[in-house]
Amino acid sequence: MQQSNHNACILVIFGATGDLTSRKLMPALYDLEFKNALHGHFRVIGFARRKKTNEEYRKEIFDSIKKFSKMKVKNDVWERLRDKIHYHQSEFRDFDGYMRLDRFIEKISGQKSKNCNKVFYLAASSEFFEVIVDNLKKAGLAFKGSREPYHRVVFEKPFGNNLKSAAKLNDIIGKSFDEEQIFRIDHYLAKELVQNLLVLRFANSMFEPLWNYKYIDHVQITVAEDLGVEKRGSYYDKAGALHDVMQNHMLQLASLVAMELPVSLNAADIKEEKVKVLRSIEPFSVKEVHNITARGQYGEGKISGKKAAAYKDEEGVGKKSYTETFAALKLKIDNLRWTGVPFYLRTGKRLRERVAEIYVVFKQSTPVLFHEHLKNSELNMLIVRIQPEEGISLQFNAKVPGAKILIEPVRMDFCHECKFGPNTPEAYERLLNDVMLGDSTLFTSWGEVENSWKLIDTITKAWQGKKPKFPNYEAGSCGPREADALIEKDGRKWIEPQKPSYSVLLENNHKK
Ligand SMILES: NC(=O)c1ccc[n+]([C@@H]2O[C@H](COP(=O)([O-])OP(=O)(O)OC[C@H]3O[C@@H](n4cnc5c(N)ncnc54)[C@H](OP(=O)(O)O)[C@@H]3O)[C@@H](O)[C@H]2O)c1
Repeated sequence: MQQSNHNACILVIFGATGDLTSRKLMPALYDLEFKNALHGHFRVIGFARRKKTNEEYRKEIFDSIKKFSKMKVKNDVWERLRDKIHYHQSEFRDFDGYMRLDRFIEKISGQKSKNCNKVFYLAASSEFFEVIVDNLKKAGLAFKGSREPYHRVVFEKPFGNNLKSAAKLNDIIGKSFDEEQIFRIDHYLAKELVQNLLVLRFANSMFEPLWNYKYIDHVQITVAEDLGVEKRGSYYDKAGALHDVMQNHMLQLASLVAMELPVSLNAADIKEEKVKVLRSIEPFSVKEVHNITARGQYGEGKISGKKAAAYKDEEGVGKKSYTETFAALKLKIDNLRWTGVPFYLRTGKRLRERVAEIYVVFKQSTPVLFHEHLKNSELNMLIVRIQPEEGISLQFNAKVPGAKILIEPVRMDFCHECKFGPNTPEAYERLLNDVMLGDSTLFTSWGEVENSWKLIDTITKAWQGKKPKFPNYEAGSCGPREADALIEKDGRKWIEPQKPSYSVLLENNHKK
């Protein structure tokens, strides 16, 4: 990553003492500084409610960088970043805090605040989005329109909690910022193997001709976490797996797998194709939801041999909570490429392992010659391993050595880290840099958000209408039986993640 004048900006983080800032944003800024990608005039201002001095804040940030940064913590790099970090104490609702912020920017930048490039990062609960945007406008800190100096605003997910609230929020923001100034985060888009999807599909002659209903039997997407809700119980209990992951990451992944070739690599052209996918998803009614979804909530269990509490016993979660910690969904995309090809999506917490994978499963080959031998065999598959141990695998059939014809599936693995090294930018590092560059390719447009909520709202409505029997899966298991039934009724099975062949190699490399 190169330093550029675009990076000479004031980044104001609203929610600067929160979990996201300490675990992701500040370590990402450190990694950028490590790579010399932050301009000498770059400044970050932490905006939060608690009283603390600059020095206290810097010390806290250093502690989190030591804990969470991917790069080696070096004193000279930290000292360069430290001098760029400032703390501004204020309530989000206190207008005077924004006027003080204006003067503070002038003080630390040595020029009028209105002449500075500014990025406002809302790492705060979405209930504050409106008041923050409003106060920024009233205080003259932000201007509508894409011009120099730039003023951009970044929103963390969730963007609204249904279509109505998202649309209201979008209208409010639209009064202060143009769409080009708005960056809605879906950090999954910045994961290296997710970015690789377009290259895999459109820069290789061997996949694209097969990428349609004639050759593909179905697509599966699994985003599984072994962690529970950690310290985010009170947020998660209001969101659940459907809103927290399905509405954004999962539908984004499905769109990237299913989209048509965009006119160019321009952000708007790529987003346009993704919106078309979301709009082409076969509509379903509230009554049909139970046929195409499954949900679950974890009870007690064991993760890596250690006892794990039930969801209802987690901090911040209601004892009688009906919030789902697992969601599965079957979608059909009603267009010429995908007619009749189901997309099965599942995501959950406290599952057996942390893994995010896409499986593109090909149809059985024409039954000639090896008809008998292929009877119980597995289908050919392309597997994109988003995390951990990023890579791509191709599963095909091979002959087992010996006189008889025996056929077994084998996998050819591409290990991303073995080829390109371990220092691929973390998602937030890439995203922060892109905001400063004004590149919104890896962010979601309003059209994507709007169409995702339209689908999810129908599921929410159906689920709210019927109380589930929770808990229905053990922590540390593969999820609820209902999710198996969802796919098995179509004569298919969830593909359980397998360690790639390069796992041991990576493990040994990491120990060195
Ligand atoms: N954490 C994650 O991994 C993660 C992942 C994806 C998305 N997100 C999203 O990112 C946002 C932030 O999440 P988080 O986990 O970092 O939240 P958090 O740990 O609860 O932090 C909230 C931050 O907001 C500040 N704050 C709260 N109320 C305030 C007020 N009235 N005035 C001024 N400051 C106030 C807090 O400041 P004080 O400490 O001074 O009170 C704190 O800095 C949320 O929208 C969340 O959904 C988080």
